[in-house]
Amino acid sequence: MSTTANIELDGKTYTLPTVVGTEQEKAIDISNLRAVSGYITLDDGYGNTGSCQSKITFIDGDQGILRYRGIPIEELAEKSTFVETSYLVIYGHLPNRTELRGFSDLLTKYQYLHEDMRFHFQGFPAGGHPMPILSAMINAASCFDTDLMNWHWGKRHEFDVYAARLLSQVRTIAAFSYRKSHGLPLIYPKKSYKYTANFLHMMFSMPYEDFELRPEVVRALDLIFLLHADHEQNCSTATVRLVASSQANLFASASAGVCALWGPLHGGANQAVVEMLEQIHKEGDDGSKFIAAAKDKNSGRRLMGFGHRIYKNYDPRAKIIKRACDQVLSALNINDPLLEIAKHLEAAALRDSYFVERKLYPNVDFYSGIIMRALGVPVEMFPVVFAIGRMPGWIANYKEIMEEPKSRIYRPRQVYMGPTLNHFVPIEERV
Ligand code: ACO
Repeated sequence: MSTTANIELDGKTYTLPTVVGTEQEKAIDISNLRAVSGYITLDDGYGNTGSCQSKITFIDGDQGILRYRGIPIEELAEKSTFVETSYLVIYGHLPNRTELRGFSDLLTKYQYLHEDMRFHFQGFPAGGHPMPILSAMINAASCFDTDLMNWHWGKRHEFDVYAARLLSQVRTIAAFSYRKSHGLPLIYPKKSYKYTANFLHMMFSMPYEDFELRPEVVRALDLIFLLHADHEQNCSTATVRLVASSQANLFASASAGVCALWGPLHGGANQAVVEMLEQIHKEGDDGSKFIAAAKDKNSGRRLMGFGHRIYKNYDPRAKIIKRACDQVLSALNINDPLLEIAKHLEAAALRDSYFVERKLYPNVDFYSGIIMRALGVPVEMFPVVFAIGRMPGWIANYKEIMEEPKSRIYRPRQVYMGPTLNHFVPIEERV
């Protein structure tokens, strides 16, 4: 098998090295192409560009495979927890008992925010969306810690503390954002609660009245976090790596990730799915009219929760979440008409040649919103839940770029299409 690629440009042949990944994914290394030929490659939207070599997550979108550090998502969903999976994603191996204990202890130790951060929460308007609050407060958290502000990649031994602090505090900040936007008193974390139970406690308990932590509810939310833990070089993770490549601190990089995640084509899709289902329900449509509109390019509508840049098969997370959705709704004795509409939409779309030809299948967001609705999580918090779940992936990618000996600042090029040399004209001579 050839290990080089030849490219002919302006009558000259250039030989480029190729790279083969551990799962036999093939790439042409063009990093030297401009230096030798004057050409760059153009790939709008990066659909065919590998921006890094990574050991964290493997996806085969044609087969519908997702593995964290080699372990299939189905096994982790069945046998692991979010905290254990976070360790796996960040450190590259499943923790032994001592490692898991140490990691959990760090998460508990660092779950509190600096008390003065409460005043920042007060500055946001009532009803403000929790995503910008989350992003702003993650970034602001570094101002409350001079060590973190002055931290740099050279001090790698401190990474474990900052990683645990971020993973733990994102949940506290997220819950506080929700309480603030609803004008509710802030609820502090409890040392005795585990990660996901603590988040639900901070979201839903009231002073002197603890929220009832039903095991099926805690498990369902933990599963949603786990299924989102990483997803290789998506829009938000690529953003985190881009910011990290400038050697910005971990919190600043993660805060940028939250902004990238917010859009409806990415982490905002779970919110958009439920809003779409509510609209279909309100209009008394069984989904047929919406599907027709989603196929019409002029309607401005898309079937939210369907399609994926990488998966051209069923998203494996969607399968797991669909099953969990049925289980949670029946355990909580909830009969949600939106679930019926979602199932009907899915079946209709999977029969429709428009979706079949374009290989558009349900993605993870199609059913996760219905579960979160059943758990009482308000719709504007859906992308926030996604951001908490994705935090280990962002941290792992930050760590990977920090530990790469040849790490360079990310700086893509462009093909300039603007005016050629032009000259300044004084205002009185302009037409
Ligand atoms: N509904 C209707 N048509 C669609 C949809 C959809 N959900 N998704 C893609 N298409 C169509 C496009 O119009 C296009 O049709 P064409 O070839 O006739 O022009 C074709 O399928 C390819 O679509 P692209 O937009 O080129 O695909 P891309 O890879 O750029 O986008 C994306 C992927 C953004 C996820 C897209 O499928 C989409 O908008 N889906 C709905 C939003 C959503 O669910 N996002 C969550 C993604 S998963 C995540 O972030 C966790």
